[in-house]
Amino acid sequence: MPSTPATTPDFEARHGFTGGSGQNQLNPIFAREGEATDFPLDEIPRGESLPGTAYQVVHDEAMLDGNARLNLATFVGTWMDPFAQKLYADTADKNMVDKDEYPQTAAIETRCWKMLAKLWNAPDAPDAPGTTGAIGTSTIGSSEACMLGGLALKRRWQHARRAAGLSTEKPNLVLSSAVQVCWEKFCNYWDVEPRYVPITDEHRVLDGHDLDKYVDENTIGVVAIMGVTYTGMYEPVAEIAAALDRIQTQTGLDVPIHVDGASGAMIAPFLQPDLVWDFRLERVASISTSAHKYGLVYPGLGWVIWRTVDDLPSDLVFDVTYLGGHMPSFALNFSRPGAQVLLQYYLFLRLGWEGYYKVQKASQDVAVYLSQAIGAMPAFDLWNDGTDIPVFAWQLAKGHTDKWNLSHLSERLRLKGWLVPAYPMPDDLSDLVVQRIVVRNGLSRNLAESLVQDITDAVAHLDALESPMPLDGQVTAFTH
Ligand SMILES: Cc1ncc(COP(=O)(O)O)c(C=O)c1O
Repeated sequence: MPSTPATTPDFEARHGFTGGSGQNQLNPIFAREGEATDFPLDEIPRGESLPGTAYQVVHDEAMLDGNARLNLATFVGTWMDPFAQKLYADTADKNMVDKDEYPQTAAIETRCWKMLAKLWNAPDAPDAPGTTGAIGTSTIGSSEACMLGGLALKRRWQHARRAAGLSTEKPNLVLSSAVQVCWEKFCNYWDVEPRYVPITDEHRVLDGHDLDKYVDENTIGVVAIMGVTYTGMYEPVAEIAAALDRIQTQTGLDVPIHVDGASGAMIAPFLQPDLVWDFRLERVASISTSAHKYGLVYPGLGWVIWRTVDDLPSDLVFDVTYLGGHMPSFALNFSRPGAQVLLQYYLFLRLGWEGYYKVQKASQDVAVYLSQAIGAMPAFDLWNDGTDIPVFAWQLAKGHTDKWNLSHLSERLRLKGWLVPAYPMPDDLSDLVVQRIVVRNGLSRNLAESLVQDITDAVAHLDALESPMPLDGQVTAFTH
């Protein structure tokens, strides 16, 4: 069924969409050429079309993507308030890389990463008490931020090895088998051997156990994840740091940590302020986050911060001119949107610490409500409960049924518009399939109650089947 036309003749007249043919006078607009006919899909159309027509066609196709707010698979923000939307529209033309042309946006970027450095307890500069000794930058998301964090680890290790006259042929990075795919890419693109520590039922996250079997003189660093993508659980950064301290005592190897705080770095400071995971731990050299996850900004924005300027080797940093002076730049991209940085600053001012606390707490309350309701259903066993980041996963209770699996439940929930993915866990638990919910700002308690009802109904339907659901064509893969 067509949606309400997003533009009206009045809107079009006010915005100068007057077209020569008079077609824009037609009402309903779906009868226009282009809407009543067809656009080619794989070549640029020969002629022009009215802006209202092109708008409506693109708008309607995007509508087929479904409702982003019901997408419980994504960590990425799907709601911002009307002031943020206005600011976004006002500043969509700014290119973040043009620091000389948009010096105020550049200054705001610096303010933002300094605020984050403080939030993550970076030490002051030794020669300037009260000012941060950290250095940071915005990125397009956590993936770029992790690449930059990883590159700095690699370059520091190379410098130290060369200075000692040692080989730099075989760098390796130690990380959990449950890392997000950006770390596999980092290792692949920059020729670093990934040393995956498998997760098991006993060690559900990387916790420092057996770390000495993976770390050696070629280890550029260890990645600790605050909010594992598969389940939302925190890796205990302090325990990983303590294991590395023991390794240093025994072997002399001084191995730094990069914290991939894609989600958790914007949750833990508010909801678990006493948890020590950040620059309070000396071993933590750098921290990254996705501003577009629990930073609450629309995609794509991320941040990465190094504890001190020495943790970011200067030969990775380029100089850009800025206000007639110079500004350090470390990035993979050149051009990228500046508006998101302004949106982040808007949120820091708008919400402050207390506002962030309230928003994150509301998401966590909904996650805990949902995990309790789902955990109480006989069909399921919880894997975790959403009290780290507001994300949790569950598995099918052993022996509950042989007629359906979690992918069937996922398909059934799609009928109601909910996207709740089911997927296998990584090594060594790849036989285990879990289902996960990511609670974000905008999933209200009321919506969550509807979801519980829909899950209850779906399970009742599946349990009542007389024969097993077919398994052919089931999609069990999910991109993390
Ligand atoms: C732990 C972790 N690291 C990195 C990423 C990549 O983040 P982005 O999508 O911002 O590039 C994700 C995304 O889900 C993640 O969960």
